[in-house]
Amino acid sequence: MTIHPTRRRVLTTGAAVAGAAALPFMARAQSPIVVKLSHVVAEQTPKGQASMKFKELAEKKLPGKVNVQVFPSSQLFGDAKELEALLLGDVQFIAPSLSKFDRYTKKIQVYDLPFLFDDIDAVDRFQAGPKGQELLKSMVSRGLLGLGYWHNGMKQLSTNKDKLTRPEDVKGLKFRIQASDVLEAQFRALGANPQKMAFSEVYQALQTGVVDGQENTWSNIYSQKFHEVQKTIAETNHGVIDYMVVTNAKWWDGLAPDVRKGLSEAMAEATTYGNKIADDFNAADRKKIADAGKAKIQKLSKEDVAAWRKSMEPVWKKFEGDIGRDLIDAALKSNK
Ligand code: LMR
Repeated sequence: MTIHPTRRRVLTTGAAVAGAAALPFMARAQSPIVVKLSHVVAEQTPKGQASMKFKELAEKKLPGKVNVQVFPSSQLFGDAKELEALLLGDVQFIAPSLSKFDRYTKKIQVYDLPFLFDDIDAVDRFQAGPKGQELLKSMVSRGLLGLGYWHNGMKQLSTNKDKLTRPEDVKGLKFRIQASDVLEAQFRALGANPQKMAFSEVYQALQTGVVDGQENTWSNIYSQKFHEVQKTIAETNHGVIDYMVVTNAKWWDGLAPDVRKGLSEAMAEATTYGNKIADDFNAADRKKIADAGKAKIQKLSKEDVAAWRKSMEPVWKKFEGDIGRDLIDAALKSNK
């Protein structure tokens, strides 16, 4: 239903670029291209920092040619709207969590399988390999081009209950999840009640008891203050939150070659920068949560982790057909 407006806007952009090429003296006099990057997390997070780095680098590499505007914290578009807005040309870059693309490709669900990746380094190795790189291009027919992966970290589970060591502790509880069918199945496998909800609504839902718990990285938990409205955070590391930076494929193709090159380089460098700091960010935020003394951090024994893994295992079988065994095997191989 968004096809017509998408075409119209993209063609307008394309026509402007073509016109500028025909009249180079006018192109030079033109004001910089406004490039909007929208995301849903706080600035003090790995994604927030990578976004600011991209702005700095892009404007340095393309002086006077681009004006990069970064909108954090769902200020411009939240989860529900950002992908549509990108396709409509209302924003040029977004970096949704990999869990939020399953309307566009089922293959990307590989990232949501519980206990698939041992750690973020394994995620990095998978993404750098042929299967991970293929996924960047897997949504081009839907108008989305992936330019790179940005890291956040491993997910932890939190609730408003005192006890959170074994799967039976979450039976019957309500959990906020990202818009992902795999995550829905994961919580159902635990006997819990998942509820898809935009990131910007989670704090209030936890505070008011609309949901009992959620799963997220240390940096997201800390920057959103979830630890202030939860009693226990179990260190499960059961899944990953990572991002794909996507742009509108037609807009990207219509850019002048020097602008596209500058933006590509800025993106590659910002990616390296952001991915280097992600682990440290999460470790520092874990410590801040522990120091704040509001929610208890529950460490888990090997046996506890094995119990969580066993309860979530049925999810793999359910999605293997859609994802493809080749992708799952490649992901498993990336664990050392
Ligand atoms: C969430 O919705 O919990 C995360 O995807 C937010 C984010 O972008 O890290």
